[in-house]
Amino acid sequence: MSNPCKDAQEDLFEPLVSVEHLFIYLRDGARTSYHRGMQSKEHPSWSTAEYWQGRFEKSDTPWQLNVASTVLMEALDELESSGFSPAEKRALSPGCGRGLDALEVASKGARVLAVDWSSTAVEDLKSRYEAIRDSCRGTVEVVAGDIFAMEPQPVDIVIEHTFFCAIDPSMRKTYAEKIAQWTKPGGFLVGNFFVLGEEVVKTLPGLSLTQRGEGPPFASTVKELHGLFLSTFEEVVLRPAKNPDPDRRPEMEWVGIFRRR
Ligand SMILES: C[S@@+](CC[C@H](N)C(=O)[O-])C[C@H]1O[C@@H](n2cnc3c(N)ncnc32)[C@H](O)[C@@H]1O
Repeated sequence: MSNPCKDAQEDLFEPLVSVEHLFIYLRDGARTSYHRGMQSKEHPSWSTAEYWQGRFEKSDTPWQLNVASTVLMEALDELESSGFSPAEKRALSPGCGRGLDALEVASKGARVLAVDWSSTAVEDLKSRYEAIRDSCRGTVEVVAGDIFAMEPQPVDIVIEHTFFCAIDPSMRKTYAEKIAQWTKPGGFLVGNFFVLGEEVVKTLPGLSLTQRGEGPPFASTVKELHGLFLSTFEEVVLRPAKNPDPDRRPEMEWVGIFRRR
């Protein structure tokens, strides 16, 4: 059956540049970041709004898909098949970017709070949401700001797609603490995690599980995710995606579902 909310998203979204270079740094080992524009010498800090705003202004957004993340949707489908319906639920999309995932979750009836500190990204999401709001089952509230500086409001579900891997790894503990504060007991952190597994490492000469590139995206490991989340969440699912984006490294696209204790 046609989904008016989703159809409108696709109509409104322009085709994207190739995401192939998203993974160049991994194939090259740790010497090179994945895109010239993201090298640390040019951008000493990716922990600022200015850095990300600059990326959006230059349309230098190779992570951007032209549909909602298939891996995130796989995770949501799995959650729905176990009885969780997003309809009427409060959802948080941290680092939402242009917000395709937020719109998709709203199309399932959720009331989504989408937060990003890039004004270009949030203005884009606002205008695309305005264009579809009458046909959208749920709602999207778009906030421009630093998610880590916001007062947590209880949500039923946090949807994660290329935000955790975009922040500096030194912020991961803060991310885990903040997301735990946002998520209601019994609520879920659901997402697409960018995981370096043993099998992937074998294909990347010179790259060890602990090495990372010089700029985002920063991969993670199962051990690290467990260390970050299992004190406040229990693991429901953490495995390679069945429907990874074919233009990325499929073996690194992992479905994660964690339930707040
Ligand atoms: C790699 S992009 C992913 C965007 C979106 N989730 C997607 O998949 O299209 C990372 C996003 O996180 C945002 N971001 C990074 N740090 C942030 C922070 N502290 N607060 C809010 N947004 C942040 C950036 O502006 C950027 O839009």
